[in-house]
Amino acid sequence: MAGRGAPGYAAAMLRVIRFSALALLLIVTGLWGYAWVRKSPQETLGESFAGLLVGVFGQQQAVPSAGGGMQLPPGLTLGGPFRLTDHTGRAVTEQDFAGRWLLVYFGFTYCPDVCPTELGTIAAALDALGAEGEQVTPLLITIDPQRDTPEQLANYVTLFHPRLIGLTGTAEQIQEVARRYRVYYARVNNPDLRDYTMDHSAFIYLTGPDARVRALFRPETPPEAIAAAVQAQLRAARARS
Ligand code: NI
Repeated sequence: MAGRGAPGYAAAMLRVIRFSALALLLIVTGLWGYAWVRKSPQETLGESFAGLLVGVFGQQQAVPSAGGGMQLPPGLTLGGPFRLTDHTGRAVTEQDFAGRWLLVYFGFTYCPDVCPTELGTIAAALDALGAEGEQVTPLLITIDPQRDTPEQLANYVTLFHPRLIGLTGTAEQIQEVARRYRVYYARVNNPDLRDYTMDHSAFIYLTGPDARVRALFRPETPPEAIAAAVQAQLRAARARS
């Protein structure tokens, strides 16, 4: 029995390996095709593909950098231009923040738990940075523009940090900035709730003075780790200039 069992097992393992390899090939080919379809005119196919990889594998596989941030895969750029409205009702673009470092978070004011936690983390990281933190502007970009009007954001941002800026916009403007940051969000209708909620990715982005993302932080990254990563980036930038 054992003599027949062992080769049978080996053959079964080989089938599993072959099947896994085929499945992986299909996934990668599919992603590559999808990257081609969703690629924007400004980006290369490689950038689009890398962006998808971050989306698919980003939660599990991260390259730790000094201070606990995740480094972007080579060739991938996140961030860039946007057109939005701040919580005072003023129209703003990335140009209004040119030359500034940003800690950017995408969320919504009706979020019951994750958003308040992450915004609290941003505030704590800024506090930990002390005077250096004044070079960094914290931004909350809503992924629920239907409910997050400038007035709604104005009441909300003051709960977290005196310098936190809330940004909203039209559905299209939010879609565009979320696409540039590879943010996932979707409306979820829950029959048990009177109102809908939003499902969304919850990374914190460190954006450089050129509006490009330099590092991103997974949900639940401690404020000290974010502060250390920001400090490393600020000092590296000063050393270069
Ligand atoms: Ni949330």
